[in-house]
Amino acid sequence: MRQTLVAGNWKLNGSLASIDGLLKAVLAGIGEVDNAEVAVCPPYVYLPTVQTMLKNSPVVWGAQDVCDEDSGAYTGEVSAPMLNEFGCKYVIVGHSERRSIYGESDEFTARKFAATRRAGMKPILCVGESLEEREKAVTEQVVARQLDAVIALEGVAALTDCVIAYEPVWAIGTGMTASPQQAQDVHAFIRQRIAAQDASVADKLQILYGGSVKGNNAAELFAKPDIDGGLIGGASLQAEDFLAICKAG
Ligand code: PGA
Repeated sequence: MRQTLVAGNWKLNGSLASIDGLLKAVLAGIGEVDNAEVAVCPPYVYLPTVQTMLKNSPVVWGAQDVCDEDSGAYTGEVSAPMLNEFGCKYVIVGHSERRSIYGESDEFTARKFAATRRAGMKPILCVGESLEEREKAVTEQVVARQLDAVIALEGVAALTDCVIAYEPVWAIGTGMTASPQQAQDVHAFIRQRIAAQDASVADKLQILYGGSVKGNNAAELFAKPDIDGGLIGGASLQAEDFLAICKAG
């Protein structure tokens, strides 16, 4: 039985004041969440504040990105050992915004995945196709290529300590959610591809869906056999909507 995980990806949003309000409201309602593990991923600079606010609560936290190197002359970067010092449990790697806006390749993403594990945290590896790729019916090839880059560098056993998030790019922030069946089909493909190399790793692997998950569509998505929770963007900034998604887990 895989545990449901609902992770909020705040992206480049928030202020000290808004985070204070959001987390207080999430903590006030978290007692009603029975099944899901709940995580939030703030911008780096707010991590110490989030760590302090969430201490002794069931809510865990993560980062939205990480440097592939542990230390050195890499101006502007934040390393995995640094994130680990602030109690991060998860690190999102290979989000489609990193891939498309900042040109991060499959291989570079795989190095960030490796850096996260080296420091003892769990990567949330994002994969997913663009609208153009879906229309060309190459979704499976794209997702397989993104996965294979990580497996080539780290080996399939590394997926034991990680989470995968399937996020079709056309569904992110657009209000166009993949239908539960469309998502399930890709999740099943991911699990089968990994099972072909290691059935026990595949069976235990949490695969999240991301892309316009809201309080009113989460339950239907999470009910699918291969959907083990969600990576939530916009709706994670509203406590009420985020809690409704967590309760659907
Ligand atoms: P969204 O973002 O929920 O706003 O579509 C999801 C994500 O990018 O992780």
